[in-house]
Amino acid sequence: MDRPELEAVTIVIFGASGDLAHRKIVPALHSLYATAVLHPDSRILGVSRRPQSDAEFREGLRESCARHSRCWKDGKGWEAFASMASYLQGDVDDPSCYGLLARRLEEGLPRNLLFYLAISPDQFSRVARGLEGAGLGSVGREAAKEGSWRRLLVEKPFGTDGKSAHELNRVLSSVFDEGDIFRIDHYLGKEVVQNLLYFRFANSVFEPLWNRRYIEKVEIDVLETQGIGTRGGYYDRAGAARDMLQNHLIQLLCLAAMEPPSSLDPEAIRDEKVKVLRSIPRYTTEAYHERSARGQYRGGRGAGGESLPDYLGEAKVAPASLTETFASLRLEVDNWRFAGVPFILRTGKALDRGASEIRVHFRRPPATLFAGVCSENLPTNEIVIRIQPDEGIWLNFNAKEPGSAEIERKELRFSYAKGGGESLPEAYERLLADAFAGDSTLFIRADETEEAWRVVDGLELAWLSPGAPRLIGYPAGSSPDDPLFGKAGT
Ligand code: BG6
Repeated sequence: MDRPELEAVTIVIFGASGDLAHRKIVPALHSLYATAVLHPDSRILGVSRRPQSDAEFREGLRESCARHSRCWKDGKGWEAFASMASYLQGDVDDPSCYGLLARRLEEGLPRNLLFYLAISPDQFSRVARGLEGAGLGSVGREAAKEGSWRRLLVEKPFGTDGKSAHELNRVLSSVFDEGDIFRIDHYLGKEVVQNLLYFRFANSVFEPLWNRRYIEKVEIDVLETQGIGTRGGYYDRAGAARDMLQNHLIQLLCLAAMEPPSSLDPEAIRDEKVKVLRSIPRYTTEAYHERSARGQYRGGRGAGGESLPDYLGEAKVAPASLTETFASLRLEVDNWRFAGVPFILRTGKALDRGASEIRVHFRRPPATLFAGVCSENLPTNEIVIRIQPDEGIWLNFNAKEPGSAEIERKELRFSYAKGGGESLPEAYERLLADAFAGDSTLFIRADETEEAWRVVDGLELAWLSPGAPRLIGYPAGSSPDDPLFGKAGT
């Protein structure tokens, strides 16, 4: 999609004092400004309950940008960026907040409006209703005729199950047209994830092999070394399956398994992703038991040798919590291309390594020729799509060891690392830029989120049923490959 010309926009951030706004959203806006992707006449209006002046708000943003913006450069140009930001004290649960907001927006701010919900998910519907009440929604409005648009950016979690996601979709779509709702999964903004479609469909050497004839299994890992930190209140109600599997891992699976779309049009791409989701079978409770594993970290030493507390001792975690901080699930995509190929999803916190990757294992060639050299352990070819860290793509293959008849494993590697310490754009930069441009390719459509919940709802229900895999207590710093996690799910 060609980028339309840059337009000035008012970005209204609900939850402007929160962690997400300070760690991700405003630093991304700062980088977009520094790289001329944010129109200089744009404005940022922070809304939250905390009483503070514009100057205090800007000072807080300065600290956040200094720590988290990719383009900080010792504060050069800060004043110009800061002058874009102002603050409105308001409680999103108080209906009068929206009248105040509407009045403020009339005070000469750009008329294109991007509402960013960086707040607790149980407030999403209330804010949508509040915006509707103040006449700030987009339904029934003709953007072209009005000469300005209104869009809503929604953070995850999108609902807590299929039913609540459906209800949330119903409320949001009564206030904003689907084309104006941008549901974020920040994994889709990561450079390597975006590259997946290019890698698969722009190369004739890989695509012909990308099916059940040649692929034995696909492993998708999103592994983290950190514990839950200060997010106990949210996390203890969510757990790894809702927090990570339902969105990031299932999205990666969709991109790895989808058919070529008819075009790069957002709907064409998202249609193909939904088809993948619909091809994931409706497993029975017993099947979920057999194909899943779950764990919760105990105290231990983290990957860097630091000591990590027991999950049960983390702030705002219920004393006898059964929430999983590790989950694995084996899925199939029951279609012509992938029937019978396991997709193994694993995610967890407080593990021995932080790594997000898709690892495609190809089938072993007939080993007869090398039987004497390598018996049946001829290593398989693998394509690894490394999302982070060490972003890149590599291909593992077999070669002859020089000077001997043995087989040795070699690697062809493409790495994103650039010289000069230049870093890749942050996912949030790309996603915000796309939302300004009205490009919803990298955002989740209503039906996608509901289909993904279908898979995870089944798992959650199975975990509450007799015969469910037990919650494994694993010492912080454990390897996800440790036999302690059992065979289930792998
Ligand atoms: C978030 C989850 O969506 O993704 C967090 O809520 C998780 O629990 C984070 O830590 C991981 O994102 P990233 O980009 O650091 O891999």
